[in-house]
Amino acid sequence: MPFDRSIKIAPSILSADFANFGAEIRAIEAQGADWVHVDVMDGHFVPNLTFGPMAVKAFRPHVKTVMDVHLMIAPVDPYIDAYAEAGADVLTAHVEAGPHIHRTLQAIRGAGMKAGVALNPGTPAEAVAHLLDLADLVCVMTVNPGFGGQKFIDMTAKVRSLRAMIGDRPVHVEIDGGVDPVTAPLVAAAGADVLVAGSAVFKGGSVDAPEVYGRNIEAIRAAADGAGAA
Ligand code: DX5
Ligand code: ZN
Repeated sequence: MPFDRSIKIAPSILSADFANFGAEIRAIEAQGADWVHVDVMDGHFVPNLTFGPMAVKAFRPHVKTVMDVHLMIAPVDPYIDAYAEAGADVLTAHVEAGPHIHRTLQAIRGAGMKAGVALNPGTPAEAVAHLLDLADLVCVMTVNPGFGGQKFIDMTAKVRSLRAMIGDRPVHVEIDGGVDPVTAPLVAAAGADVLVAGSAVFKGGSVDAPEVYGRNIEAIRAAADGAGAA
C-alpha cells in the first residue's frame, strides 16, 4: 500500500444492509470506493454494538481495495491479533480507549497492519503529538462515535493543526462522521485525505440500484477535489 495523499472516499458499511454485506461491499467498490471502512463497536466504549473479528474476516474476500477497520472498543490490545487474522489492512484504535495507546500502535504494526489512531471531538490534536512516528493514519472524528447519520461537528482547526504537526511524515488524515458534499470540501481544504462517509454514500441506493452509490461517491469526491488542500 504505497502512500498516496490524493482524496480517498471510504464508504462506511455501517450504513449498508446488514443482511447483505458481501454484495454491498462489491457494489461500493464497483462504484468507485477507494477504501472500505468497517466500524467495530462494543456497546461499552460507544453506546452501540456492531460486529467482531469473525464477521470482519467474512468481509475480507469481498474487499479488493483497502479494509480500513475502525475499532470503537475498549480494551483494544486483546483483540489486535484477531483483527490481523481477519485481514484488516488498517487498524485504528481510539486514543481515549485506554492508557497505553503507544503500546497499542506498536502492537498493531507488529502484527503487520497499518496503525491508525482516532480522536473523539473533545480530544485535542496534541493527544497524538508523541505518536506520529508510530501511526500511519490519524482519524479525526467529526461526530461522537456510535452511530451513522449524525450532524457534522466542525473540526477543521484540529485538522490543520494535525497536518502541521505531521509535516512530511507519510501519515493519512481521515475524517469520520457527517461527511457529505457540503462538508467534504471544508476538511479537504484543511488537509484531510481519507473521507469516510456512511449515510451520504448509501442514501437512496441499494445493491439493486448501485449506480446511486456511484453518484453519491462522485459527488463527495468532486466537492473535495474542488476544494484543494491549503
Ligand atoms: C461513527 C462511525 C462512522 C459512521 C459515519 O461512529 O465511526 O464511520 O458510520 O456515518 P455517517 O457518514 O453517516 O456520519
Ligand atoms: Zn468509523
